[in-house]
Amino acid sequence: MAVGARVLRELALLEEVAFAPSHVVVGVAARGTLVVGSTAEGHYHLYALDPSQKVLRRLTRQPVHLLARAHPASQTVVFTRDVSMGRELSKVFSADVKSGMEAEVAPDVEPQRIAGLAFDGKRVAWSGATREYAAAFLAEPGKGAEELARLSGREFVTDVNEKYVVGFGSLRGDPFSMELFIIDLSSRELHVFTPREGSTNVAPKLRGDTVLFSSDYADGDKMRLYTYSIEEGTLREVDLTYRDMERFDPTEFVDYGWTEDGRVWAVAKRNGRTKLFVDGREVPTPPGFISSAEVHEGAAYVVHSSLRSPPRVLSIDLETGESRILVDNRLSDEVSRRLGDVRFAVVESSGGVKVPVFVLESRVATKPGPAVIYPHGGPWSEVADSWSPMIASLAVLGYHVVAPNFRGSTGYGQKYRKMDIGDPGGGDLQDVVSAALWAVEQGIAEREKLAILGYSYGGFMTLTALTRAPDIWRCGVAGAAIADWREQYELADAYFRRFTEILFGGKLELMEERSPITYVESLKAPVCIIHPQNDTRTPLRPIMRFASKLMEHGKLFELHVIPGVGHAISLDRRSLLQFLVYAALFLEREMRAESRG
Ligand code: 4NP
Repeated sequence: MAVGARVLRELALLEEVAFAPSHVVVGVAARGTLVVGSTAEGHYHLYALDPSQKVLRRLTRQPVHLLARAHPASQTVVFTRDVSMGRELSKVFSADVKSGMEAEVAPDVEPQRIAGLAFDGKRVAWSGATREYAAAFLAEPGKGAEELARLSGREFVTDVNEKYVVGFGSLRGDPFSMELFIIDLSSRELHVFTPREGSTNVAPKLRGDTVLFSSDYADGDKMRLYTYSIEEGTLREVDLTYRDMERFDPTEFVDYGWTEDGRVWAVAKRNGRTKLFVDGREVPTPPGFISSAEVHEGAAYVVHSSLRSPPRVLSIDLETGESRILVDNRLSDEVSRRLGDVRFAVVESSGGVKVPVFVLESRVATKPGPAVIYPHGGPWSEVADSWSPMIASLAVLGYHVVAPNFRGSTGYGQKYRKMDIGDPGGGDLQDVVSAALWAVEQGIAEREKLAILGYSYGGFMTLTALTRAPDIWRCGVAGAAIADWREQYELADAYFRRFTEILFGGKLELMEERSPITYVESLKAPVCIIHPQNDTRTPLRPIMRFASKLMEHGKLFELHVIPGVGHAISLDRRSLLQFLVYAALFLEREMRAESRG
């Protein structure tokens, strides 16, 4: 096939991958209405789903951003909406699940970055940050809002009831720990709770005056589920009737909650795959990853995907274990055929660190063949056996994808997760390089055809790898990257200032040494930079300065700004497709040509 025809064919396949929707189970509202967030129509919207009818009914007129869990006694759902063209300044809204009628919940509160949102059927609570400050808020639809407590920036409200607002975050100022907070709504006092100083405690859920949360306090590594009675001040490990979850020995949880009769359900994670448990008993789910779930009246509703299969909404009968597809997501034969085997391996890196790596091979590449090393964002995130439009696209285009869960990744225990604190762009860079060389040794990647592509922290890793390990790469694609920590810190709001302070473990003097802009001269491979114009997490301005320096030093690069959108490009599939198309055309030129120059 002529090159032009092949490229056009591949762009059509990218469109299919970019528009394969993502879904989130938001919960069950009144009358058993399942509420789902979905990009089914290209933008992220709220939908109602009648489990017997299997059709998504759109509830929102404008796109949404963050969704609060629905409440089974309420006909209202609560969500945030970006009112700033992607700058992530949001306001809180409610919508009626029957009529779709919307209302603003707190018209008097200024737009802010909202990172935690909860709704108990009556009250709405959230944590928000502006450039100046961060705080927890409480509102009742129609009754106005009030600020409950000032916070330091990286705290998340996770639940509310008539007596308390609860959440978690960095309340001791210790970058290596996370504590729970409990705001008593009668006294407005904020209490900090931790079972052990230095431990990691996350995502408390309320039932009366008891919170269910996960914590690593027992062994300082693996998360386990606990309840804490606020009134009695007593802490207990969750007592489960069945032992399946204990045998699974999870490292972390995706989500958990109570059934109506007070049993605990949980989606537990180990080595990039999940299992669902109710009262400790496994409920059968397909191999891969459950990214969101709700359990209601004898059924579980989950979003399931894997690296090879896009997200579907399933319901599972808790008694029979039978599952039904409520929202399907089918790829064309042409796309499916191109997605190859999934491999999970553990790669030894510097200092004996063991790095878990997921590989998605391409069926349309030779072996060894052209490969893309894909460092994920976060950095406290991971590549699991879970659908990723970027990874799937690269495999469809004919690149083997190697995704290292470098030190600092989630999913492998808290000791591993905390290894990047005080060392971003240090040990994690070694892990990315180790994974690339391993892929060559394994006969997956051709030594001369190693590219690196990442988004956000993954974009930072890409620029870091291209400048500080310049001899490895044929080329690189940096999406929404960090080029200059110092300038980014100066532009940040209260949330991202705190985030950066935690990530650097307080050692902000490391910022110059760990910034790609310091090493522009060392760059050897061509780089493709793609950046959302209105990004407020990884702002464009430092990237423009980085590009000017590339110009001054005569480096080969391309620069694309995606206009009018913010950091979360996956919420707008057209912008995601734009990113994938720029990356595809660049990789086509740099990777397919037999020789450069
Ligand atoms: P992410 O974005 O990778 O999409 O989560 C980030 C934005 C800012 C920082 C890290 C990641 N930061 O450290 O400032």
